[in-house]
Amino acid sequence: MNISVLGAGTWGLALARMLALDGYNVTVWSAFKSEVDDLSINRCHKNLPGMVIPDSIVFTEDMAKACRDMGVIVFAVPSPFVRSTAAKAMAYIPDGQIIVDVAKGIEPDTLLTMTEVIKDELNKDGNHQNIKLVALSGPTHAEEVARDIPTAIVSACLDMDVAKVVQEVFSNTCMRTYTNTDVLGVELCGALKNIVALASGVVDGMGFGDNTRAALITRGIGEIRSLGMSMGANIQTFSGLAGIGDMIVTATSNNSRNFRAGQLIGKGVPVPEAVTQIGMVVEGIHALNAAVKLAAKYHVDMPIIMAVDAVVNHGADPRQELARLMVRPKRSEIETTEVETRFESSLYTNRRNKMKRVITYGTFDMLHYGHINLLKRAKAMGDYLIVALSTDEFNWNEKQKKCYFTYEQRKALLESIRYVDLVIPEENWDQKRTDIHDYNIDTFVIGDDWKGKFDFLEEEGAEVVYLSRTPEISTTQIKSDLKK
Ligand code: CTP
Repeated sequence: MNISVLGAGTWGLALARMLALDGYNVTVWSAFKSEVDDLSINRCHKNLPGMVIPDSIVFTEDMAKACRDMGVIVFAVPSPFVRSTAAKAMAYIPDGQIIVDVAKGIEPDTLLTMTEVIKDELNKDGNHQNIKLVALSGPTHAEEVARDIPTAIVSACLDMDVAKVVQEVFSNTCMRTYTNTDVLGVELCGALKNIVALASGVVDGMGFGDNTRAALITRGIGEIRSLGMSMGANIQTFSGLAGIGDMIVTATSNNSRNFRAGQLIGKGVPVPEAVTQIGMVVEGIHALNAAVKLAAKYHVDMPIIMAVDAVVNHGADPRQELARLMVRPKRSEIETTEVETRFESSLYTNRRNKMKRVITYGTFDMLHYGHINLLKRAKAMGDYLIVALSTDEFNWNEKQKKCYFTYEQRKALLESIRYVDLVIPEENWDQKRTDIHDYNIDTFVIGDDWKGKFDFLEEEGAEVVYLSRTPEISTTQIKSDLKK
């Protein structure tokens, strides 16, 4: 099989060497002629001392040559260059191509993961609808893989058959490869663990001990897991190789640039100077912007990520930030309610099985049989029903409506109805468009008192259905009857 690796950095080269020694015909592409010339002639890389590049590897700056007749194309450029590399390669990549991404990051303005960025870019010409994208991630320092030191890694693809093909290609006596269909979870771990590694380096640089580091790592992966679950990832991924596996290696080792950058910052070196001293891309610093935006978008509390952001981007004192983390309100380690856990695993299964997902919106105050009738019919339209429940603030600010029951009480009532799988907050008028995508909604349902008002959601790809109201009963009616 022919395999090409786009990008001649340390990780790309370590993988290229491994694949070449496994018998594949490997081509490595670099955007820089000087790099192609240097590697072709000298057969070594300055940051991988001792690694000899096999003679069989061909180096090129010709993108056509790097993309033609390849069984697998590996994207191994730094995350900020993934989109531009996909744009350059687009004309030469055939539809149906298997692409393995090993770059880790989240695009700051679109908030897309790296496989999503590649897909987004290649889709622009309309000729790449069937590209097969795989995220390959795990505890893999290039320096160690280059010396055949054993490790394990995960091949993540929505299509299990493709994940298995890549598993086969990247398996040998020094690399044990597992499959996973939770691409989102794998990619979130890869991008966000670098921020926790920075934090881990900072506390090390400040002279704290193993306990502090272990606590940070554990709570750090907890924050990433909370975000991932809100976005629809699988909980098991976070304790897997791309999750805790990559976290341990990145947040405890001097081989990690993020850890070393953190150490310098913890010792009082100003951030820009720390980055200069490291001399390579510090991915954790790049990932911060996207992490902060994702936490806000999905309403997830990420205190460690915020503390790193405060130190790196806003000049905060690391000691004060750590002190603040220690005195946060006390809480339980077990954070998800049963309903949320059910939602999480069901979302995952639903995605795989293409189950139909329905959403409805409303206040549902003083729950009555008109509400139940609506929820029952809504659930019957699919397999999974989400109720977006108007918050007290939204009701008051936008509808001048004061509820008898609080949001929490209304939520608890709805959660105990067997037709309802998940309750999420409705906080503004505009969220419907984004909810459709964030929750993979097929059908939007509401009572026909709103007839015609939400037809625009069809533009987002959802079916819009208005159900007839149950005659006579309403919350307003109950209130006025009781008054009489
Ligand atoms: N609904 C219904 N039949 C009723 C009352 C409500 O089908 N008799 C539906 C609404 O059309 C909406 C959902 O239930 O899709 C939630 O409605 P909500 O506004 O919370 O309930 P009401 O009882 O109509 O409340 P209010 O009187 O405060 O408007």
